[in-house]
Amino acid sequence: MSKLFEPAQFGDLSLKNRVVMAPMTRSRSTDQAVPTSEMVEYYAQRASAGLIISEGTSPSANGMGYCRTPGIYNAEQIAAWRKVTDAVHAAGGTIVVQLMHCGRVATVHNKPAGSETVGPSAIRAEVELFTDTVGMAATDMPRELSNSEVYEIIEEYRQAALNAREAGFDGVELHGTSGYLPMQFMSENANQRTDEFGGSVGNRVRFPLLVLKAMSEAIGAGRVGFRFCPANKFNDVSDSQPAETLQALLDGIAEMDLAYLHIMKAHTRKIDAFAIARAQFKGALIINDGFDADSAAEAVEAGVADAVSFARHYIANPNLVERFASGRELAEFNRDTLYSAGVEGYSDYPA
Ligand SMILES: Cc1cc2nc3c(=O)[nH]c(=O)nc-3n(C[C@H](O)[C@H](O)[C@H](O)COP(=O)(O)O)c2cc1C
Repeated sequence: MSKLFEPAQFGDLSLKNRVVMAPMTRSRSTDQAVPTSEMVEYYAQRASAGLIISEGTSPSANGMGYCRTPGIYNAEQIAAWRKVTDAVHAAGGTIVVQLMHCGRVATVHNKPAGSETVGPSAIRAEVELFTDTVGMAATDMPRELSNSEVYEIIEEYRQAALNAREAGFDGVELHGTSGYLPMQFMSENANQRTDEFGGSVGNRVRFPLLVLKAMSEAIGAGRVGFRFCPANKFNDVSDSQPAETLQALLDGIAEMDLAYLHIMKAHTRKIDAFAIARAQFKGALIINDGFDADSAAEAVEAGVADAVSFARHYIANPNLVERFASGRELAEFNRDTLYSAGVEGYSDYPA
């Protein structure tokens, strides 16, 4: 049996194997950002994963950007998530919530009443977002956060980590890539600030590092993970020094004792993100992007990483671990139902 199926301890998180379910937005929450019974079913079906990382979930109303995505900032959401975590735990699983603040990647058509689109600078993201009400829509012009408001958002993440524990999650993962708020701070085109959060690489990584510190203080670093992908341009961000950014992040988290680092293959051939993270990060490393059973087993056996995460394979294969272990063929997913409402193409894929 491959090491991929052996248990592991990542900080305070106990994994029964090293097959991790990667975070995937699936848009099955209510339009009030509350998790649904379909989500309880969907996550429980995938509880044989060593670790489930939930879909991106907003720490605040202002952090919302997409339709039917969940939040973890009010009592109704916390109670609804509790049903998800109870079902996953009853099925023997471990689950963390991925905290995703969309920042400027947001449209008023997807946002709760009274919320606002904010970002490091008043510069619009040149992308369109799907909405249930008007189809594709331009992003809002973000309002530039004042210096004290940046610290307020860090507090929102701290509270969200506490809420996550109250909701029964085993921990949290900071979504630090794909053009959302932490990545906006790390990007030259989205961040033109002149305070301690803008300018040099050291200043631009300050926001994610302070968020990780705040969440670690709140719930213990052994329950906090961080996801990053060097040179990722998704959602209109750009960083001309991705190697320096990765280095500054690794230096910043070196002494934090985080539960894990979750690294996606760099979007530039100039950086071997897995090797750099492995050499410099002393905690558990999860790697991602494009793996299958064989390449994942090989990576874990060779010590490239402690675990591998899978997103797309998890869509149509709820029992992915069992399918990998028995060498069974994988089912294909339906693209048309990735973000549609309801159980079809979501919790109806058979084990
Ligand atoms: C439908 C879908 C939704 C996704 N949503 C998220 C998300 O909410 N947060 C995140 O960090 N990555 C998200 N991703 C990226 C995946 O976690 C993963 O990095 C990517 O699909 C590559 O891994 P794979 O080759 O195993 O699919 C999403 C991917 C897909 C296909």
